[in-house]
Amino acid sequence: MSAVKRNVAVLISGRGSNLRALIQSTKDAGHPARIALVLSNKPDAEGLEIAKAAGIETVVIESRGKERAAFDAEMDALLRGKGIEYICLAGFMRLLTTDFVQAWYGRMINIHPSLLPAFRGTQVHERVIESGTRFTGCTVHFVSPEVDAGPIILQAAIPVPQEATPESIAAAVLEQEHVLYPQALRLLAEGRLVIEGQRVRIT
Ligand code: GRF
Repeated sequence: MSAVKRNVAVLISGRGSNLRALIQSTKDAGHPARIALVLSNKPDAEGLEIAKAAGIETVVIESRGKERAAFDAEMDALLRGKGIEYICLAGFMRLLTTDFVQAWYGRMINIHPSLLPAFRGTQVHERVIESGTRFTGCTVHFVSPEVDAGPIILQAAIPVPQEATPESIAAAVLEQEHVLYPQALRLLAEGRLVIEGQRVRIT
């Protein structure tokens, strides 16, 4: 008899390479999580095809022109209706309301392409290069109401070479993301992450 798996939804807006890594990593029978649903706020998100090819249910809830609260309420109802326990944001380019974030606090994680708390927000790699910092990387963190500011779960660092371009850093960081995000999801689904204020203890 196999153990019950935790139901995870992955929220996307675009390419879906992290989604692909999460799907791949949760495939084995002994994994504590299963990607039960992929939700996109964009009907043309490429990641939807990745999900479909893997036989995972997909839903599009268009966010364009919708009130933030109404959109989040619609998502919340859907996720609860489907028995979702955890949410992974993977390139989901829509700001979430405080109500939604609080309702899922401790059960929703995100990946960001910098070593937080440095370089929150967008245009990360351009700003990394301008700043002259020697290292960058990626961070998986719990989602809190303030954007890119929740408790940090895991990080991976890479050097920023002299000749780096935003594109070269993006590629090197992305490679790390695809390793880091599956590790973090596994820890989450195993119930091994304890939030203590701004810190996360791995048990
Ligand atoms: C990644 O760089 C991730 O860190 C950021 O958005 C990008 C998503 O890429 N949050 P993908 O859609 O997973 O390929």
